[in-house]
Amino acid sequence: MKIDISNLSVLFDDQIILDDISCHFPEGKFSCLVGENGSGKSTLLRTLTKDIDKFQGSITDLKSSDYSYIPQNIDDPEFLSVQEVVKLGFYQSKISDQDLNLQSHQLLKRFDIEHLESRRFSEISMGQKQRAWLAFALAQDKKVILMDEPLAAVDLQSRKNFYSILNTVSKENRTLVLVTHDLEIAMEFCEHMVHLHQGAISFEGPPKNF
Ligand SMILES: Nc1ncnc2c1ncn2[C@@H]1O[C@H](COP(=O)(O)OP(=O)(O)OP(=O)(O)O)[C@@H](O)[C@H]1O
Ligand SMILES: [Mg+2]
Repeated sequence: MKIDISNLSVLFDDQIILDDISCHFPEGKFSCLVGENGSGKSTLLRTLTKDIDKFQGSITDLKSSDYSYIPQNIDDPEFLSVQEVVKLGFYQSKISDQDLNLQSHQLLKRFDIEHLESRRFSEISMGQKQRAWLAFALAQDKKVILMDEPLAAVDLQSRKNFYSILNTVSKENRTLVLVTHDLEIAMEFCEHMVHLHQGAISFEGPPKNF
């Protein structure tokens, strides 16, 4: 599923946050949305998810059945184990308990965190949480995955590993949009890049042209 944004403007308290922006996130590709603090990246994602519903312009109408969304600064689910969090991702699929256990185990295994299955989510490391959130997002089996800066405070090697995992996820024909400050790693791993500067698009295209 392709995401199109055309002439989108968002105002908060008469202040222009997104100023007539047009861009797209191609179907089945790994896109990164970059830009300095306050440039409007989260606002753009939150408009796509309809957290923000006052805007001008037109955007692809994403239904909740189309996407999974991992917001910026998401709280740890309290009292849940890693496996329980991933299982929650399957909430809409009608599968047996046995399959639920099997499939969540396979997802955790895919991201090399199956040994943490029964640990409390709040007690695992940042990098491990990001993988667990991605497993949760994939469990929902949506065509679009939107992630807002899930990589802050993670070491370089773990970030690179996470990006290469994301790259394989988009190969399953999922449209992936990652908000990040990691320009260099984004340029190495993503396929499409959108750069916001003070609420306007200052670059869109293949990262090698950035
Ligand atoms: N609910 C809100 N009410 C008023 N202003 C807001 C609101 N949410 C965001 N803003 C403002 O909109 C601008 C863009 O914020 P946004 O969170 O989209 O930036 P960002 O690019 O995600 O930044 P960061 O990299 O720090 O996460 C900022 O100036 C922010 O203060
Ligand atoms: Mg943000």
